Amino acid sequence: MLLKPLIIYYSKTGTTAKIAETVLPIIKAESRRLGEPKGWSDRLKLQRHFRRDNEAREPDRLIDKFDPIILMTPVWRGKPTLAMIEFLEKVDLKGKRVVLGLVGANETNPDALEKLRRKAMERGCNFIETIYLRGVLPGRDWTDLKEEDYVREATRLAEKVSAVSEFTR
Ligand SMILES: Cc1cc2nc3c(=O)[nH]c(=O)nc-3n(C[C@H](O)[C@H](O)[C@H](O)COP(=O)(O)O)c2cc1C
Repeated sequence: MLLKPLIIYYSKTGTTAKIAETVLPIIKAESRRLGEPKGWSDRLKLQRHFRRDNEAREPDRLIDKFDPIILMTPVWRGKPTLAMIEFLEKVDLKGKRVVLGLVGANETNPDALEKLRRKAMERGCNFIETIYLRGVLPGRDWTDLKEEDYVREATRLAEKVSAVSEFTR
């Protein structure tokens, strides 16, 4: 049976969300947005209902019916976000193909990529591909990306996901 791709993403200022939602219809995927990481909510004494996506709390059930799994996160100070790390520490990726999408203002973020790749491998995935996607430059207005930039990045991601689906089926 051919499974649908699933995009799981975290986004603070909306760039990653916009790329994810743009690619969604192209690759006929579903998506889930991760809430704020537990580490932060504990520290800020926020309640559980602040988490955005209930299903993301039960990661195994969430990814069961999907393949490949596309994980997208912004890069902050050379690192992947805590929200994605926390998710990767809970999820079982056994037998899954994974595409890691790192969204950043820089062209590459090798430390973040290596950390995520290692985590995903530890969770048992059987194939892993990665792609750097262009995020917004931190600044006052956070608007240096235009509509066509989102479409371009979403198209690049779609090509990567298709290649993974075709190549390793
Ligand atoms: C505090 C902070 C640190 C950042 N550090 C990096 C970095 O090390 N490398 C990079 O490529 N982009 C970096 N960025 C840029 C973000 O990854 C980029 O703006 C991304 O689009 C944000 O994603 P979001 O809009 O989905 O939250 C940083 C942004 C912020 C706010």
